[in-house]
Amino acid sequence: MINIQNVSKWYGSFQVLTDCTTSIQKGEVVVVCGPSGSGKSTLIKTVNALEPFQKGDIVVDGISIADPKTNLPKLRSRVGMVFQHFELFPHLSVTENLTLAQIKVLGRNADEAKTRGLKMLDRVGLMAHKDKFPGQLSGGQQQRVAIARALSMDPIVMLFDEPTSALDPEMVGEVLDVMVQLAQEGMTMMCVTHEMGFAKKVSHRVIFMDAGKIVEDCPRDAFFGNPDARSPRAKDFLSKILAH
Ligand SMILES: Nc1ncnc2c1ncn2[C@@H]1O[C@H](COP(=O)(O)OP(=O)(O)OP(=O)(O)O)[C@@H](O)[C@H]1O
Ligand SMILES: [Mg+2]
Repeated sequence: MINIQNVSKWYGSFQVLTDCTTSIQKGEVVVVCGPSGSGKSTLIKTVNALEPFQKGDIVVDGISIADPKTNLPKLRSRVGMVFQHFELFPHLSVTENLTLAQIKVLGRNADEAKTRGLKMLDRVGLMAHKDKFPGQLSGGQQQRVAIARALSMDPIVMLFDEPTSALDPEMVGEVLDVMVQLAQEGMTMMCVTHEMGFAKKVSHRVIFMDAGKIVEDCPRDAFFGNPDARSPRAKDFLSKILAH
């Protein structure tokens, strides 16, 4: 579903991604972790063409991002992305937030968009809040609306960039529950997260990045179950986050 081939990216003379290669199969859940500044957000943003890259290619569902003929807005509309900060429109109701892109980007009519949006809102357990504004919701609820909004677009894959790291601790669980459910339903997911409980429970593979490189890319059980076989950098990172 996602094929990242030898991707390198520079910001001026600073190389932020170095020869990154991996692929994600349909239905696979891949967790990306690593130290701050290692390039996790940059890598995930290249997958829906929010960040350009200078070398290599990424093919999403058979469509090449590097191909100048590719309609990137169309591709982007099929790749759901959920960020650390929810980025809902504050002046629009929850229902309007859910329907806007469906109408503007997918050309759905208002009724279709509302039906689909509310179905997804129900799925994340927030139907009772459909007429509220984002400012009237908790952080966890806003993040669940953001997930429902992405799902309303019928994405072929969902990308998450630290979706729980800006939340109060007691709200992390409700967002992770939604993500676990999505994973168990077979959604293809690439998740930057340090929630190792989530990684252990539902991921198929773990990618560990350091200084712009994919240092580890291995099955979940190997990543967590065999620390001695990991690279020193990954081992050090794991020992720090698993210590808590
Ligand atoms: N627009 C930019 N211009 C220049 N350098 C940038 C830009 N965006 C990010 N960087 C640099 O690229 C590197 C990777 O950043 P990135 O945000 O991908 O890291 P990350 O692994 O997601 O970190 P974190 O865990 O803190 O979110 C960092 O050194 C960062 O300072
Ligand atoms: Mg980041």
